[in-house]
Amino acid sequence: MHTTQQLSQGLFWVGGNDRRIALFENMFPLSNGVSYNSYLLADERIAVLDTVDSSILRTFLENIDAARNGRPVDYLVIHHMEPDHCAGIVELSRRFPHITLVGNAKTFQFIRQFYPGIELPTLLEVKDGDTLSLGRRTLTFITAPMVHWPEVMFSYEESEGILFSADAFGSFGALSGNMFADQVDFDEVYLNESRRYYSNIVGKYGQQVRLALEKVKDKEVSLLCPLHGPVWRKDIGHFIDLYKTWSAYEPEQNGVLLAYGSMYGNTEKAAEIVAARLSDRGITGLRMYDVSKTHVSYLIADIFRFSHLVFAAPTYNNGLYPAMETLLHDIAALHVQNRKVALIGNGSWAPASAKVMEERLSAMRDMTLIASPVVLKSSVNDEAQKALLALADQIADSLLK
Ligand code: FEO
Repeated sequence: MHTTQQLSQGLFWVGGNDRRIALFENMFPLSNGVSYNSYLLADERIAVLDTVDSSILRTFLENIDAARNGRPVDYLVIHHMEPDHCAGIVELSRRFPHITLVGNAKTFQFIRQFYPGIELPTLLEVKDGDTLSLGRRTLTFITAPMVHWPEVMFSYEESEGILFSADAFGSFGALSGNMFADQVDFDEVYLNESRRYYSNIVGKYGQQVRLALEKVKDKEVSLLCPLHGPVWRKDIGHFIDLYKTWSAYEPEQNGVLLAYGSMYGNTEKAAEIVAARLSDRGITGLRMYDVSKTHVSYLIADIFRFSHLVFAAPTYNNGLYPAMETLLHDIAALHVQNRKVALIGNGSWAPASAKVMEERLSAMRDMTLIASPVVLKSSVNDEAQKALLALADQIADSLLK
């Protein structure tokens, strides 16, 4: 039995959902799974565009069988060689010995690395701008290196304006049966998970994402088909604009994220004092997280979202509390930049955490300290309370000006 869905004339979704998966890339928690999108374009010749993860291979093969209607698959276009999309390559090649695999030089290098020793069918190596006619429809290949991996490419089908965008414009979260973003309340169901997906998976490559967006900016796109999450047919510009913001490391909105590490509640108290004052000053939409409790990927998503960041952490082993160190490491690795930052350190005999956080931030681009760090000695005393309230006022002033 199959779960194929027709998206337009001759275009079928033949992917599947995995709601059992706990950790994407064995790292990122998923509360509602993920979809692995694969598409089948039936014309005079049939092309499958990407395969799926091994967890849903059987579903994928059943869906292919339903959509191909007894005809063989002529081409497998490989936009991305990460294993969540390429687990079906070997099986499709076995089932359709006359299939042609379409990719670029890096694609074929990676196939041989991931599947050493396999006998490959015919390979069609393409470069940026090359085309492949399927009959009435023609695919144009657009290389998009490092829009997650170096071999990534998009395909554009001009007659209908379909952009197959690989990992770009993807989202965590399985599909509910509704394939299109306009069939669900996207902002409620997927937006946070799209941001978390982008920021953590592709966020490091903002410059490369911008180059890829530039390449497709003059193309009419009526159907946007990513490898994860819903397909777009309405308000595509809205999502593309979000990608422009995220890839430029611009904050999506004015607002404050507070992230603290705290062993016994004293550093937490300092963050709470700042947050309460910010609220008194009329700042809404505050987000506060315990870095030991909330997975770093959620913090990263909100760090991409908000303009102002407050980090509070104790000293540990003469350095920085490890969970905060992890967060700052990720922020640096993902090239986050252009934020206003406030710091709160704590230490009982040799406070070092504020200094270490300041050093980490000074190595990043355009991370501006709003004020000198507030350093607690073990807990919040009267003097520290005043300093924290003053810090909150400076953050509020910076937001409200
Ligand atoms: Fe969904 Fe980079 O793979």
